[in-house]
Parts: sequence; structure tokens; C-alpha cells
Amino acid sequence: MHDFTLPQGLPKTELYRELLAAADALTGDEPDGIANMANLAALVWQLVPDLNWAGFYRMVGGELVLGPFCGKPACIRIPLGKGVCGTAAASGESQLVADVHAFPGHIACDAASRSELVVPVRREGAVIAVIDLDSPLPARFDADDQAGFEALAALVASRI
Ligand code: SME
Repeated sequence: MHDFTLPQGLPKTELYRELLAAADALTGDEPDGIANMANLAALVWQLVPDLNWAGFYRMVGGELVLGPFCGKPACIRIPLGKGVCGTAAASGESQLVADVHAFPGHIACDAASRSELVVPVRREGAVIAVIDLDSPLPARFDADDQAGFEALAALVASRI
């Protein structure tokens, strides 16, 4: 077991520095992508406050397929261009959604979700997965969270 508990109320720059260091330590020596995604989802769940879902969708056969996550059971397959995840995967751009009810085509996997951040994971230019974060709080995510998860996506792109 790894206990990466951090103090409450840590500034986001420090939170993401710690998250990246822990993610690097957890995945650096492990070649199995599923094991790494599972541990990364658990790590994010443990360190990042106010989430009700955290995990991966993987690009498989031209659509997104559910990967390791923490939270309630979720929809399994998401077509490219659909929902927040499919939009991130199709565009290659992170999606920072302050109010999921205002996002056209949002896919509600957990009725508690109010805001969402989805970050593409790219390997050699191609989107191979997305990291999906849901929060029960409106406007939970900001540009610092986006930058932190984009750095995480870059770190783990060759390890998942
Ligand atoms: N809300 C996402 C679907 C995935 S769940 O949030 C886990 C979307 O609109 O793509």
C-alpha cells in the first residue's frame, strides 16, 4: 500500500507537484498500462479533493472505452465527438466545463456531477486516452487544474 496523503488546503501548484512526483514514482518502473492507469486513478482520487469520479477512457477501435477509474460504475463506450470525453478525444483539446448541464451532449454517468475536466493523453501526436475528472461542485476546476492534469497526461503517456 502507498499512502500519499497530503495536508488539507495545499496550494494547487504544490498539490500538482506532489501528484506528479507520486505518479512518476508509482508508474516509472511498471510496464503494464492497466496497472498504471489503476494506480493513477486511485492516486488522483486520494490526493485531489472534491471529486466524484476520476479515471481513464482509452481509444479502442475508433471510440472511447472505459478504463480504470474510481467512482460509480460509468458508461462503457463513448463515440468520438460525443459528450465531454468524446469532444476532448476528437479535438485533442482539454475540456474545462464549469457547468455540465450547459454542455451540449454531456453524458451523465453520475447524477451528482456538476463540473468536469477532461484532458487528452497523446502519444506520438495521437490521442490514446483521456483522463476524466468529475466533481459534485459547480466550477470545481480552473486553469491550474487543467495545467496540472495536462502535465500528468504528458508524464504518463508512454506508461499507460
Ligand atoms: N460525463 C462524461 C462521461 C463520462 S462520466 O462522467 C464518467 C462525458 O460527457 O463525456
